[in-house]
Amino acid sequence: MKIWLSVFVLLVLSKIQLHVHGEAQVPCFFIFGDSLADSGNNNLLPTEARANYQPYGVDYPSGTTGRFSNGRTSFDIIGELLGFENHIPPFTTANGSDILKGVNYASGSAGIRNETGQHLGAHISLDGQLRNHQVTVSKIAGLLGNNVSAATEYLNKCLYSVGMGNNDYINNYFLPKHYPTKRLYSQNQYAQVLIDQYSQQIKSLYNNGARKVVLFGVGRIGCTPNAISLHGTTNGSLCVDKMNKAVRHFNVKLKLLINQLNSNLTDAHFTYVNAYRMGSMNVSAFGFKVWNVGCCPVGENGQCLPDHQNTICKNRTEYLFWDSFHTTEAVNILTAARSFSSVDEYDAYPMDISRLAKL
Ligand SMILES: *[C@@H]1O[C@H](CO)[C@@H](O)[C@H](O)[C@H]1NC(C)=O
Ligand SMILES: *[C@@H]1O[C@H](CO)[C@@H](O)[C@H](O)[C@H]1NC(C)=O
Ligand SMILES: *[C@@H]1O[C@H](CO)[C@@H](O)[C@H](O)[C@H]1NC(C)=O
Ligand SMILES: *[C@@H]1O[C@H](CO)[C@@H](O)[C@H](O)[C@H]1NC(C)=O
Ligand SMILES: *[C@@H]1O[C@H](CO)[C@@H](O)[C@H](O)[C@H]1NC(C)=O
Ligand SMILES: *[C@@H]1O[C@H](CO)[C@@H](O)[C@H](O)[C@H]1NC(C)=O
Ligand SMILES: *[C@@H]1O[C@H](CO)[C@@H](O)[C@H](O)[C@H]1NC(C)=O
Repeated sequence: MKIWLSVFVLLVLSKIQLHVHGEAQVPCFFIFGDSLADSGNNNLLPTEARANYQPYGVDYPSGTTGRFSNGRTSFDIIGELLGFENHIPPFTTANGSDILKGVNYASGSAGIRNETGQHLGAHISLDGQLRNHQVTVSKIAGLLGNNVSAATEYLNKCLYSVGMGNNDYINNYFLPKHYPTKRLYSQNQYAQVLIDQYSQQIKSLYNNGARKVVLFGVGRIGCTPNAISLHGTTNGSLCVDKMNKAVRHFNVKLKLLINQLNSNLTDAHFTYVNAYRMGSMNVSAFGFKVWNVGCCPVGENGQCLPDHQNTICKNRTEYLFWDSFHTTEAVNILTAARSFSSVDEYDAYPMDISRLAKL
């Protein structure tokens, strides 16, 4: 099984080469999310949640970019698997006709809730990202000759990826010093409050022409080096179980929301990627050895300290985490591969990204 999985990953990655000069499987790819997808939108914002300095991006082809990893994000790799020649540009620098291929709106520390992450500084919450998308939609209509039906037809064919919720837990619910939500809601109530707001936000994306939408569930936030050092583990667990338990409430409801959206909204296809389950794969089989600390030396905020290139770990393909929150490119490759071509029906529901793109 494990050997089969590595062969499978190699096969998927070899497709990257095959697609490079071909036509992409969808005309455009729009990315909404948090630091797992941010590729530079936070660079000019007054916030601690920025990654535009070394050693972030040391393995990215053009160097440091604002990505919270050593190299590409999972979303960059999904773009490659879809056949895009270039990575989707961040909203803050996308210009001209580039936007016809898609835009990346993701912003580190952002959440479904507007206030999420605000103790770190500025960010673009999901509501803000959706407002930025409206700007793009108008520009695309302009580029297509101000022909509304042509623009709608075009936007209907694109792929939309939304990965939100991680920070509504890490940088909100589990920081009672800064946010009141843990006092106001039980874990189950909070998950429902988030899902109700998320549902409205996803519907507004649909109203702007999205018909192929992939929603990423929240990952095992209790297994990050930051969670482990901040909260400690109990009962011999490797992770902070109460954090993982809280996000399972959200993920269960998100999967139910997918069913409702698929039956309520005509001509639309929503799919769920089980990021939580992917966090349980036996990574030793891929050569990973270290999961409880990141590869780079970190500051108090869990992010890489600047200018410590000489003290980063020797072999980053053996580390799950780059800093105390964000995975290495090696892990991002595995996540992207499994989201794109799922190993089984639990990875992606009701279909994986490769099937969604082909519809
Ligand atoms: C778009 O941005 C790139 C780099 O950010 C710049 O080199 C290029 O001149 C810009 N193009 C237009 C049409 O503004
Ligand atoms: C979101 O929160 C910021 C403060 O972090 C506030 O200035 C802004 O008005 C809020 N936006 C909305 C739409 O509530
Ligand atoms: C607008 O686009 C539609 C669909 O692409 C096309 O059939 C129609 O002729 C266009 N209308 C104008 C005025 O160009
Ligand atoms: C540890 O495990 C015991 C037995 O399963 C359980 O009763 C207890 O609540 C657990 N403690 C924590 C902190 O999860
Ligand atoms: C879908 O429609 C049902 C029946 O009208 C309704 O109860 C439910 O709230 C809707 N769900 C969403 C997410 O729109
Ligand atoms: C994970 O994989 C490693 C190496 O292939 C193996 O030694 C170990 O027993 C596996 N662990 C589990 C829980 O399957
Ligand atoms: C880095 O780690 C991988 C996985 O354990 C191993 O295959 C590779 O040989 C290592 N490379 C170096 C230079 O140590």
